[in-house]
Amino acid sequence: MPKLRTKYVCQQCGGEQSKWMGKCPDCGAWNTFEEVTETPAAAAQQRRQAVLSNGQPSQGTQVPIALPDIQPLAQTRISVGYTEMDRVLGGGLVAGSLTLIGGEPGIGKSTLLLQVSGAIAHQVGPVLYISGEESIEQVKMRAERLEISEARLYLLAATELDSIVEAVHRLKPSLVIIDSIQTVFAPHLTAAPGSISQVRECTFQLMQLAKSTHIPIFVIGHVTKEGVVAGPKALEHIADTVLYLEGERYHSYRLLRGVKNRFGATHEVGVFEMQGEGLVEVTNPSAVFLADRAVGATGSAVVVSMEGTRPILVEVQALVTPTNFGNARHTTNGIEYNRLLMLLAVLTKRVGLAVGNHDVYANVVGGFTLEEPAIDLGVAAAVASSYRERHIPPDMALVGEVGLSGELRAVSRLPLRVREAAKLGFKRCIIPKTGKAVQLQAELQDSGLPADFKILTASTLAVALEIALHS
Ligand code: TYD
Ligand code: MG
Repeated sequence: MPKLRTKYVCQQCGGEQSKWMGKCPDCGAWNTFEEVTETPAAAAQQRRQAVLSNGQPSQGTQVPIALPDIQPLAQTRISVGYTEMDRVLGGGLVAGSLTLIGGEPGIGKSTLLLQVSGAIAHQVGPVLYISGEESIEQVKMRAERLEISEARLYLLAATELDSIVEAVHRLKPSLVIIDSIQTVFAPHLTAAPGSISQVRECTFQLMQLAKSTHIPIFVIGHVTKEGVVAGPKALEHIADTVLYLEGERYHSYRLLRGVKNRFGATHEVGVFEMQGEGLVEVTNPSAVFLADRAVGATGSAVVVSMEGTRPILVEVQALVTPTNFGNARHTTNGIEYNRLLMLLAVLTKRVGLAVGNHDVYANVVGGFTLEEPAIDLGVAAAVASSYRERHIPPDMALVGEVGLSGELRAVSRLPLRVREAAKLGFKRCIIPKTGKAVQLQAELQDSGLPADFKILTASTLAVALEIALHS
């Protein structure tokens, strides 16, 4: 009888070692190794694959095909019933693709995919929703709450990979949902379900299934609090498309963010709102995020941030108060902490605002996280506005990256951003004064901006603040 193969797999990064170690040499994590034993069948199969990969071709081996002889796949896109999600997918779902949806527990992954299942079952064909976490009665209860009653929506409570594969072959659905990958296990591995070896093996097998049957598969993966996952992070390289559902539990907005897409642009964002009857699309997020703005308040600025190909206007707030005791406190919400510190330093040294001995709080309204440097000017202006107790005109938007010398630097896709601001009723926008600014200004005015819309240019942060706080 062949010997069992034992190896140790790091649960953080998936690195393999032949003996147990306290610290993973690959990722540096402590105490993350877990013993994994492969049964002879799996080991034999691996050996066979190894032979095939460096040995003679045997029966059933694929032979290389010249590029012109390969028939292209008919890339028809299936709409998932939500334009916000279709856009993140790159224009709809591709046949035979494996899409991973990650997110913290309770954020709404099951809800979103049950809604998608309902839509596809209604418009395209049978959908198989495999739940390893909840009983089918629980899923049914959720479906009732979401008012989904499609006869072509099939539910299956299963966790064993083989039975899942069999069910897919038997039903031949138009879409398969696996909720969640952490509950699925391949019996030939001894590791527990949810461990990195199981999760990787199962995702790999599901990928093969999707490719061989041309059925698109959605796989749900939980992200743990630390952001590492025995799941999404370790699987990103296997999946065709990786989406994350984000949001704060106490805010109702949910962002579906694309981080990898073999069939379209990444970094697209879809916006949803969690309501009593499930997730509802927010097709005009700027209007929603700006809805509760306190017009005329100090410390508030509106920035135009690009989320994928779409510009979104978001309010940034800052509160600056003198430090009463000890070191100044700085906190951020939705903005990178170090970026705020950099902007405070520039405000102190290049603009001459003595914000150093002040506590500074900076927030992005609506639970949004902004990562682009193009919001620098808005953040700095919000801080200066609060510090100086002067408000920024409510009809003004700000775009620009701030450099360490206090200069304003060009940002990408300026015309798109400015047009979006104009569309939402803003009357002026401060942009960096760069070589192309004048040309751009003329271009924009020609391209149908309202006649009373003003583009204001500034070469430095100091000049921009002068405009923003004194007009
Ligand atoms: P769920 O989809 O179960 O999250 P996940 O699968 O990511 O763990 O969503 C859980 C939360 O969503 C739960 O706290 C209740 C809330 N919810 C609503 O607010 N409205 C609804 O219609 C549904 C179905 C859920
Ligand atoms: Mg769930």
